[in-house]
This record gives sequence, structure tokens and C-alpha cells, in this order.
Amino acid sequence: MTDPLPTSSPVGVIGAGTMGAGIAQVAAAAGHTVMLYDAAEGAAERGISHVAAGLEKLVARGRMDAGARDALLARIRPVDNIESLGGCALVVEAVVEKLEVKRDLFQALESICSNDAILASNTSSLSITAIGASMSRPGRLVGMHFFNPAPIMKLVEIVSGLDTEPGIAARVSDTAAAWGKHAVHARSTPGFIVNRVARPFYGEALRLLEERVADIAVIDRVVRDAGGFRMGPFELMDLIGIDVNYAVSCSVYDAYYQDPRFIPSLEQKERVDGGRLGRKSGRGFYDYGEGAAPARAEPASAGAPPESIIAGPLPGFAAPLLERIAAAGIHVHTDEEAEGVIRLPGAVLGVTDGRTATRRAVEDLHANLVVCDLCLDYAATPGIAVAASMNASPTALDEVIALLGAAGIAAYPVADTPGLLVMRLVSMLVNEACEAVLAGVCDARGVDTAMRSGVNYPRGPLAWADAIGADTVLTVLNHLQQGYGSDRYRPSLLLQQHVYASRPFHEQAH
Ligand code: NAI
Repeated sequence: MTDPLPTSSPVGVIGAGTMGAGIAQVAAAAGHTVMLYDAAEGAAERGISHVAAGLEKLVARGRMDAGARDALLARIRPVDNIESLGGCALVVEAVVEKLEVKRDLFQALESICSNDAILASNTSSLSITAIGASMSRPGRLVGMHFFNPAPIMKLVEIVSGLDTEPGIAARVSDTAAAWGKHAVHARSTPGFIVNRVARPFYGEALRLLEERVADIAVIDRVVRDAGGFRMGPFELMDLIGIDVNYAVSCSVYDAYYQDPRFIPSLEQKERVDGGRLGRKSGRGFYDYGEGAAPARAEPASAGAPPESIIAGPLPGFAAPLLERIAAAGIHVHTDEEAEGVIRLPGAVLGVTDGRTATRRAVEDLHANLVVCDLCLDYAATPGIAVAASMNASPTALDEVIALLGAAGIAAYPVADTPGLLVMRLVSMLVNEACEAVLAGVCDARGVDTAMRSGVNYPRGPLAWADAIGADTVLTVLNHLQQGYGSDRYRPSLLLQQHVYASRPFHEQAH
């Protein structure tokens, strides 16, 4: 049974900046009276003006009527002293990200608010246990981590420190749900869920760039088109701010005692040092200056496809690829002996298993091997990355590109690298999701909800593992670990357990 705060209970918000103003809007939209306090003179009024400007756009687009806007705005009241929050049932803090400032604030709130008031922090990186350490009743302190922009992003991480009372976390979670948010419980650990589990999305893309596997525009395009992600890693880092993203990477890396999984990238540091911070500075991974040529990723041009191919059983998740080839009028002869690959007249095509094409060609005795990447949906993907073995004939790749082209799939040739692009990113996201669940940061459902509604991933990492098989992911990670000889790619124990037990992460894949 859910037990949200009744809308008749006033809510306090401290800090009227980017996040505080947005949180005030969310609570007011749900029907609460909101007291908005900021230490800087005039900041609360400016925060409300910012909310009003946002609502004005909704009214102009016909998505909100003027009456509802006026009623919402009337519920947000600027107050000029913290004592005015005394009657609030819930106070959400969104001030500067400094431990000492937040500690002092909550200590002050303890004497201002009633005993049953709930106190919440929107901190994105500080420990809830540390913030509450100087409180006399830290059990009523909980993290309520909204994402930017708060009125739009669905996720709220409900973060419990060592002292947080479970009933308080449950109440805040129910309240966030009543405010239309997806609330996910998290244990207070560095990066909570999203800022931790998302690290490989950036980190592995940066590794690919470091190794010059492909241009940034190609990596972004493949991750979007084949992976189904709304934005590629480099355009997303440019949007977030490379300095902000780099700072989070460094703080998570240090917080986990320099675990190689989180090593930050020199590709980012070099840009931060040079002031190329992304969109906000006019240049980051891409150039946003006037007259800058747009960076385009052009697929390889395709020649005439073969009339027929011989196909062994492909991994189940890639089977639609064969259906598309057959639908293009190419004869598909099936042959059990061609297990896992498609034989063309002058090439062999397989879906990456985390080995380079060069290694696999030698180990599996395939002349002219080309590997292709993972796709979110092979039945609909507009593009895919491909890489040829170093020993393949120069025409092998052309044949594969022509075959894929005939099936309506644009091929992007990249350097021969373990796991290619999407398979590598997804496998590492799955691994990090497993580590978070293993460490009790959240449960399997929570991590998937968090990544879908916090960063708009097309599918939760663990649902992705279920879709392609945890064994596929384990094999890829083992091969990455062997290829690089690095602990960065060590497979999570939880992933291994699911493979041994043949147990999906979700009973019903979603
Ligand atoms: P901001 O700089 O836009 O706003 C902070 C506001 O707090 C300012 O208006 C400032 O005057 C006020 N303030 C500072 N000290 C105060 C005090 N002692 N008492 C009352 N008001 C005080 O900052 P932003 O971006 O809104 O971040 C606020 C919090 O939210 C931080 O803890 C941050 O880590 C977290 N956060 C930020 C996100 C973002 O994307 N900006 C996303 C999620 C969390």
C-alpha cells in the first residue's frame, strides 16, 4: 500500500537554482503548497520567474491551460528566512554541493521543523550518511536525487544512508511516485545508481576513441542507429559539459579506490585543459562555432550483393538478420556446419563474441572473417559496425557491406577491436549493473528503471542481458579481459551466477 504525503502538507525547498526551482515546480504541480527559500537575496523570486517562463511555453504550445499555470505558480511562495519552513512536512535541500554547508543546514532544520518532518537532500555525489552525521536524528534524512531538468526527467533516486529509517525512505518514495516520478531505492554509495552504472557508456567510448577505432561521428552514429540510444556518447558529453562529466568520472574513480573499471580518460582531460568543454564553450568533441562543418558519419558504399549465402544457426538474438537478408531476395542455404556464421563466396560473417576478428579467424579457422556488432533490434536497425580480420582479403569486407546493404543495413567499417562498439558498451553496462546489484545498491528492477528513466536508455542493462543471454555477455567480457589483460573487464560474480544457474535477471523480460 502506498502512503504518500497528503497534498495538504506543505513542502519546503531550499536553494532556488537549477534543481531547487524545478523541484518546487514538481511539488506544486502535484498540489502541495511550496515554501521556496534561498540564502541569496532575490534568488527565490528568480527561481519562480524561471518556473513561470517554463510554464508559459507549455501554455503557448497548448499543453497547459492558463488557469492551471496560475494555480501552480500561486502555490509556490518565496520565503526570506529558513524559519518559515517550520510548518513543512517535507523539506528538500538543493543548495551548493558542499558537505559542510549541507551539514549546517540540516542541523539548523532539526530545530526549526517539527519532529515528524522528513528532511531530504538532492545531493548528486555526497554521502547521505556523512550529511546526517552531525544530526541528532539522522534517521529522518534521506536522499531525494532528481535529474535535470527535474520537471521533465522521470527518475528520482531515493537514497538511504546507514541511518535512514526504512519507513522514511518508503514514504518519500511513495511521495515521489505520487508526484508522477519513477522512484528507485538506492543505498548511499558513490554515484548512487545512474552516475555509477552509466560510467562505461562514456568510458568505453573514450577508449574506442583513444585507440582510434573509429571517428567520434561514427561511434555516435552506430551507438544511436544500432544501439538505439537517443544520443551517442560524444554528443551527450558535449551536452552535459565535458568538464562536468570528467569531474564525475574522477570522483567515482577516486571513491572506488581507483578501480580500473572507472579510470578516467586523457581524451577528456586534454579537452578540459584546453577549455573545449562542449556546447557551452562552442567546442568540445564537436565544433559548434559559426560556419563549422557538421561532422557526418557516412556509411561505406555497397556494391552488388551475392546471389546466395550459406548460413549456420546464428545466436538467437541475431536471427532476424538472416530474415532480412532472405527478404532482400538473397538465397539463404542453411547448414548446421556453418555454426554461428554466414558464408559468402569470398567472406565469412559472424556477430562479435568479444574476440577481435583477427583472433577469431585464427582460432576458428575462418579465412576472410568479418565481424558485425550488436544491434538493439536486428529486424529494424538502419546501420551496423563491421570489422575485418587483419588477414582477410581486401574484398571480404566489400562483400559483407554489399550483403548488408541489400538487406537495407548501412555498414560502418571500424578497426578490428574486441567487442566492436555497441556490444562492448552494452556488455560493460550490464557488468556495472550487476556490480551495483551485487553490492546491494539497488535491485535488478531498480537498476533497469533507473537507466531507462534517468538517462533514457532504450532498454535496462539487465533486460538487455536477458535479451541476448547473460552467457553472451560473459563470453564478451572474458574475451575483453583476455584481449586487454585488464581487470577493468573482469566479469561480475553476479553475472557469472546467472549464467551458471541459467537464470534470467527478470522473470519476464521487459
Ligand atoms: P545552483 O547553483 O543552480 O543553485 C544552488 C542555489 O543554492 C543557489 O541559488 C544558491 O544561492 C543557493 N544556496 C547556496 N547555499 C545556500 C544555503 N546555505 N542556504 C540556502 N540557499 C543556498 O545548483 P544546482 O545545480 O541547482 O544544484 C543544487 C544541488 O542539486 C547540488 O547538491 C547538486 O549536486 C544537486 N544536483 C544538481 C544537478 C544538476 O544537473 N545541476 C542534478 C542533480 C542534483
